[in-house]
Amino acid sequence: MEILKIENLSKMYGKGNTAVKALDQVSFSVKQGEFVAIIGPSGSGKSTLLHLLGGVDRPTDGKVFVDNTDIYALNETQMAVFRRRQIGLIYQFYNLLPILTVEENITLPMALDAQQVDQKHFREVVDILGLQQRLDYLPNQLSGGQQQRVSIGRALISNPSIILADEPTGNLDSKNSKEIVDLLKLFNKTYNQTLVVITHDDRIALQADRVISIEDGQLAKDEVIRP
Ligand SMILES: Nc1ncnc2c1ncn2[C@@H]1O[C@H](COP(=O)(O)OP(=O)(O)OP(=O)(O)O)[C@@H](O)[C@H]1O
Ligand SMILES: [Mg+2]
Repeated sequence: MEILKIENLSKMYGKGNTAVKALDQVSFSVKQGEFVAIIGPSGSGKSTLLHLLGGVDRPTDGKVFVDNTDIYALNETQMAVFRRRQIGLIYQFYNLLPILTVEENITLPMALDAQQVDQKHFREVVDILGLQQRLDYLPNQLSGGQQQRVSIGRALISNPSIILADEPTGNLDSKNSKEIVDLLKLFNKTYNQTLVVITHDDRIALQADRVISIEDGQLAKDEVIRP
């Protein structure tokens, strides 16, 4: 089943002679449960693409379908709900709220969505992430690897169908990087969540089912590694 489909996606920043074409007519689709790595040089448009997949930004042209819904045809309220329920976003710098505990950071999307936290799912996610003993800690009392695990918990608490990660290990040493990638793969396999990861690390890219290369805002290569 196709969970994600993009058609002729383009993004222009700015106007006139300072305009930048960050993304230029990119099309591809992703199957449910697939693990896709996105690679490419700095400035090639990878983060722009990921933001458009997650409904964080608006394309200049083209369409994004998630589970057959044309997401940019949604109104703002529908879009906010779509983002919170379907998309789990993970960034290089964890973006945790410093005054909230680990538990509060993880459950924040549910609170914002006025939804009850499914305690069984919460415990399961916390167990997988190994954060049982840290639930009352504040982010600045955690290591970088632990903070990234909290941000993964926050991205996955609502059981989204798609996990979008922008260089999730860019700020971590190799041991923590491996742990974080293993965790993302575990969620990908356990819950059949589709995983799209931007990375500069070949070791990570080679673990994906498929590697998409972006160059100058265009799709340069699309290689299936594991059919
Ligand atoms: N908000 C913005 N306003 C203007 N230009 C932007 C904006 N965001 C990105 N760009 C430009 O769009 C192009 C693509 O940027 P993008 O952040 O998508 O690249 P990237 O592939 O993620 O790079 P990196 O690997 O360095 O993170 C770049 O030329 C960048 O300068
Ligand atoms: Mg980027």
